[in-house]
Amino acid sequence: MKILVLPGDGIGPEVTAQAVPILQAILGGAATFEEAPIGGAGVEAAGEPLPAATLDLARKADAILFGAAGLPGDELGPRHLRPGGGLLKLRRELALYANFRPAVMFPELVDASSLKPELVEGLDLMVLRELNGDIYYGTPRGISQDPAGYRVGVNTMRYTEPEIERIAHAGFKAARGRRRKLCSVDKANVLETMVLWRETVAKVAKQYPDVELRNLYVDAASMELLRAPKQFDLILAPNMFGDILSDAAAMLTGSIGMLPSASLADDGKGLYEPVHGSAPDIAGKGVANPLAAILSAAMLLRHSAGRAEDAARVERAVRAVLASGYRTADIYRAGSHPACEKVGTAAMGSAVLQALR
Ligand code: IPM
Ligand code: MG
Repeated sequence: MKILVLPGDGIGPEVTAQAVPILQAILGGAATFEEAPIGGAGVEAAGEPLPAATLDLARKADAILFGAAGLPGDELGPRHLRPGGGLLKLRRELALYANFRPAVMFPELVDASSLKPELVEGLDLMVLRELNGDIYYGTPRGISQDPAGYRVGVNTMRYTEPEIERIAHAGFKAARGRRRKLCSVDKANVLETMVLWRETVAKVAKQYPDVELRNLYVDAASMELLRAPKQFDLILAPNMFGDILSDAAAMLTGSIGMLPSASLADDGKGLYEPVHGSAPDIAGKGVANPLAAILSAAMLLRHSAGRAEDAARVERAVRAVLASGYRTADIYRAGSHPACEKVGTAAMGSAVLQALR
């Protein structure tokens, strides 16, 4: 298989550098690797966040391992040069519409959560975020001037029925592989787009009578997520609400530095990326947590390479390394028992590789 590595910006290159050897160790000659610039690195190399050559390689690849895109002050520049825009365009061009963001509590890290241990022990939930529609892509959009001379900002929350149907099917199917509980999140009490969302999810649900469907408004969902997160199995959310809820869900597990994601298209192609982003404040220091990137590689093995058993092996290696006390700064706690050892990015990556062997 062809794997395209897009390290991107900030800590992206550091963490993907730890994930690639894991894939190489497992796939050996069965995979070829290529690398291309995206995000700020794309702007630097070719004048745009998603260079044409990068998009071309992405189309030809079977799977993409993505680091991060974005640098401080991005929001100040012109929109077509914004690093995050490269990722947004890639998601849409490749029809990567189903974004799976698991939040799983590792027993070794219960202490690192900001919630009480009894609320997060054993937590295992999945946020399925729709990734190709909503206010992220809807038009009209832009900043213009109204007749009175005031500047007006406009974005459009937009979903078509087929867009909602396909993500709902993805959700119910995924729920079948879990505890068969799907909670759909919307804001149907205020927004017509979200009324359509709720109605369409209910219609699709009829084909999955074995899966329990519940609906929550996004404000209530965020409250419940913090109050009693273990009530959730799979959370199905539109693009923007999913963006927000998945960061919150990630933090329940102690560190966003632990969480992988998969963005899947119907043709089996997938983009795998850590949820954490470019973290410019710690970039280049060798302290970033590579486990989210490594766990993203595990998701790649499972969803694009058809290697579920190898994916589970990588996940077990990560757990073994945590159990042996290795911690990057984001999950390290001084004075914890048993004592832990604070390590950098490369040492953490090598430890996982060794545990794998
Ligand atoms: C994410 C990120 C992106 C998003 C940004 C970088 C465009 O926050 O993947 O969650 O908003 O989708
Ligand atoms: Mg986000």
